Amino acid sequence: MNIGVPREVKSEENRVALTPGGVAAFVAHGHTVRVEKGAGLGSSLPDELYVDAGAEIVGDAAGVWGKSELVLKVKEPMPSEFGYLRRDLALFTYLHLAADEPLTRALVDAGTTALAYETLQLPDGSLPLLAPMSEVAGRLAVQVGAWCLERQNGGRGILLPGAAGVRPGKVVILGAGMAGASACQVAVGIGAEVSILDIDPNRLRYMHDILRGHVTTVMSNRANIEEEVPAADLVISTVLIPGARAPKLLTRSLVETMRPGAAVVDVAIDQGGTAETSRPTTHGDPIYRECDVVHYGVTNMPAIVPHTSTHALTNATLSYALLLADLGIEGALAESEPLRRALNIGEGRIYHAGVAEAWGESMPAVA
Ligand SMILES: NC(=O)c1ccc[n+]([C@@H]2O[C@H](COP(=O)([O-])OP(=O)(O)OC[C@H]3O[C@@H](n4cnc5c(N)ncnc54)[C@H](O)[C@@H]3O)[C@@H](O)[C@H]2O)c1
Repeated sequence: MNIGVPREVKSEENRVALTPGGVAAFVAHGHTVRVEKGAGLGSSLPDELYVDAGAEIVGDAAGVWGKSELVLKVKEPMPSEFGYLRRDLALFTYLHLAADEPLTRALVDAGTTALAYETLQLPDGSLPLLAPMSEVAGRLAVQVGAWCLERQNGGRGILLPGAAGVRPGKVVILGAGMAGASACQVAVGIGAEVSILDIDPNRLRYMHDILRGHVTTVMSNRANIEEEVPAADLVISTVLIPGARAPKLLTRSLVETMRPGAAVVDVAIDQGGTAETSRPTTHGDPIYRECDVVHYGVTNMPAIVPHTSTHALTNATLSYALLLADLGIEGALAESEPLRRALNIGEGRIYHAGVAEAWGESMPAVA
């Protein structure tokens, strides 16, 4: 099959949909891969690495899209790319169509087969192509939280690991899912004093077991949150209730009880945020002070570490992309239940229930 990897055009996006290692895997399976010139540069992956792996480098986006049967991307197509969509094309990428009517219409009108990373689901309900970005964001949360605590950033001037004879900083993590567990491992690893709270006792038991007691696990309820948060130097929130806005566990009055110069990293900001005092920020201007507490609310945290994020994402997507190429789109959909769940649009109709609920009245839907 002819595979295409265009350069991402969305602003602040430096990831790329395939690593040179991924190219080598497609080539070994007998497929052809065309990569747009410079597509990997933002992730520190120069064209030569792709050539060495067996890819053809193409000078412009039209040359990649036009000759491909399967296009692999990271972010949804931008309006400047809508003209490349066509019926005999399959697209595998993050799409978030329930929030994007113009793109949904463009895909329906073009008849493109659109498979979304974020809806690919395993039988246990997990979302394996979202998990790697939560893992990256969770690990990064400790790094940016430590930066927020530096004096010149408005922080308390706390070094999280402490020093000989000096207490370490206290980190309180809300949520022990993928992002929270990842944050917890880094925070414990650098020697901070860490508490993690969740409503799921199995997640707390898991954290206790893998960190061999080097973390304090606490059941998440109002009383415990009100006890932990005021003592924290850094609060990292990763709470998620699937399909709902993040619960406001950090009320303004609770944030006011935190020490001046403490920090809140609200990873769940992309679901509205867990602190009443949180608002979305950007990598260009990531922090602000409110209630004397430094707040960090970047909605696309993994974008700042594109090399790691690209490898983490493509590790997760590659086996599904190979299945699509090896069996053909129809064959792969017949074979794989997770890929059927990823199918959002095909033959001019909406297949995914959530997308149909959003736009099904104005566009043809199967779901
Ligand atoms: N800002 C970013 O750049 C970025 C990047 C990736 C993910 N995220 C966001 O991070 C959040 C977490 O993602 P995830 O993959 O770790 O989700 P997850 O489902 O793996 O984990 C969420 C956890 O929150 C727990 N939880 C629910 N209600 C709770 C409560 N009241 N108190 C404590 N814990 C509670 C759940 O039991 C679960 O363990 C999501 O909102 C996701 O969108 C943000």
